[in-house]
Amino acid sequence: MFYEPSKNNHGLSKNPFNSLIVPRPIGWISSIDNEGNINLAPYSFFNAVCYRPPTVMFSSGSSSGKDGMKDTLRNIEATGEFVCNLATWETRDQMNQTSASVSPKTDEMELSGLTPLISNLVNVPRVAETPVNLECRYLKSIRVPSWEERDRYFLVLGEVIGIHIRDECLTENGLVDIAKINPIGRMGYNDYTSVSGKTIFTMVRPD
Ligand SMILES: Cc1cc2nc3c(=O)[nH]c(=O)nc-3n(C[C@H](O)[C@H](O)[C@H](O)COP(=O)(O)O)c2cc1C
Repeated sequence: MFYEPSKNNHGLSKNPFNSLIVPRPIGWISSIDNEGNINLAPYSFFNAVCYRPPTVMFSSGSSSGKDGMKDTLRNIEATGEFVCNLATWETRDQMNQTSASVSPKTDEMELSGLTPLISNLVNVPRVAETPVNLECRYLKSIRVPSWEERDRYFLVLGEVIGIHIRDECLTENGLVDIAKINPIGRMGYNDYTSVSGKTIFTMVRPD
């Protein structure tokens, strides 16, 4: 089959786009507002962008609130800081719970029974239950060109200025044991996948 997204002529029961670019890592983003209220929400249009400086991106859609912004982006633009916590198999239910649309003052960490830990370089707390946390300094957000004014998406870039890795998730020869971390990835529809010992394979790059 072939279809053109602008014509929406796929003829399928659901838009297949999200189901094709998979799995997507989940940036489980903590932020605070100017009064210190904690916010936590998952973003799967999320990835690493480059090494030097280590940079991450996520994309925020619009919200039905009065300024049309999701709390995460509003907080990050106000404070200039955020933390990307890695969503794992163990924390999958809490991750899902924190995607609920709640008021900006509701602390989703508390709501989902997670523990806030003080970060080293930013004022935003990180999630204790996840083995990897990336402390980030906000760089910029870029409005994604859209077909219509109501389609408002922003690409948000952040420099990773501090990285926490739980010690037990490192091997004796100094590698990250990603199977132990067991991250989950977003697929299409309501599907997810996870990285485990069974799903990892190795290939050496040619010279
Ligand atoms: C696994 C998962 C991935 C998500 N990815 C995104 C995303 O990439 N961009 C987005 O705007 N919303 C995404 N959402 C929806 C947000 O998490 C949801 O709108 C949330 O309420 C936003 O919270 P906030 O207003 O506190 O930032 C995702 C939800 C789930 C469950």
